[in-house]
Amino acid sequence: MGFFASVNGLISPAEEARVSVLDNGFTFGDSVYETLRTYGGRPFHLDRHFARLRNSARRIAVDLPQADGRLAEWLDALLARAGNPESYIRMIVTRGVGEISYRFERVKGPTVVMVVKPYEPLPESHYAEGIAVALVSVRRNAPEALDPAIKSCNLLNNVLAVREAQARGALEAILLNGRGDVAEGASSNVFAVKHGVVLTPPLEAGILAGITRDVILEQGAAWGVVVREETLRVPDLLSADEAFVTSTLKEAAPIRTIDGRPVGAGRPGPVTLKILQAFREYAPRHSR
Ligand SMILES: Cc1ncc(COP(=O)(O)O)c(C=O)c1O
Repeated sequence: MGFFASVNGLISPAEEARVSVLDNGFTFGDSVYETLRTYGGRPFHLDRHFARLRNSARRIAVDLPQADGRLAEWLDALLARAGNPESYIRMIVTRGVGEISYRFERVKGPTVVMVVKPYEPLPESHYAEGIAVALVSVRRNAPEALDPAIKSCNLLNNVLAVREAQARGALEAILLNGRGDVAEGASSNVFAVKHGVVLTPPLEAGILAGITRDVILEQGAAWGVVVREETLRVPDLLSADEAFVTSTLKEAAPIRTIDGRPVGAGRPGPVTLKILQAFREYAPRHSR
């Protein structure tokens, strides 16, 4: 079991892995990333994570010359070396090693880092009882400034939001966009259930296209639930019958309270639990 890293394909224990202090990822946060997890030891929807990673890299004009097959080989070798029953996986692509300057033509890159560690699921009690979330004062980055669709390692917006939520005793922060509509969690997408219909903000709300969110939108009908993208305002969320957040690491985590106020009956509702169960059946079948 272990915590291992690969830097441009070279594997070492994570605490021994090294990236230059001149790397633009460190000096400018000039980098993009993906968070994955395994089911049965295999990465969930690796194809979709590669596609989103490439899209993020393209949006910041970072060239990622390695083909998906090559990246998958590096990841396979890393997973084999770590030998964890289930792994958390972080992939980071930085522009490369520069000179702490905006002379991008001098940057040598990219730097491709992969880190794996044993996967630690949320405690089952969070699924049985639901989690506390806080509607924080920090607004989600404006898409015109730093588009949340780019999965950037510039995570200060998210860090500030989570720190505010944690100071208020909540596990996850829910951020509003510049218009004051519900955007997303600091590391999750948000769903509300009203009269049996599952609603989640559209991408135009200025959010990340979460892979868990996409799966729920695509599979909802097959799972016997109606799922729609719809603008959510704060009162919609507060008056929902059920609400939940989704992410690779959280799957579908029921929300028990928002700013201390119970959602619906104050415990996970039937629609949320149906989606969680269906997702848990789907995920291992899409991990290769
Ligand atoms: C800001 C943000 N929104 C949503 C998500 C959920 O995305 P996914 O389901 O692909 O993990 C994440 C994941 O880390 C995130 O950081």
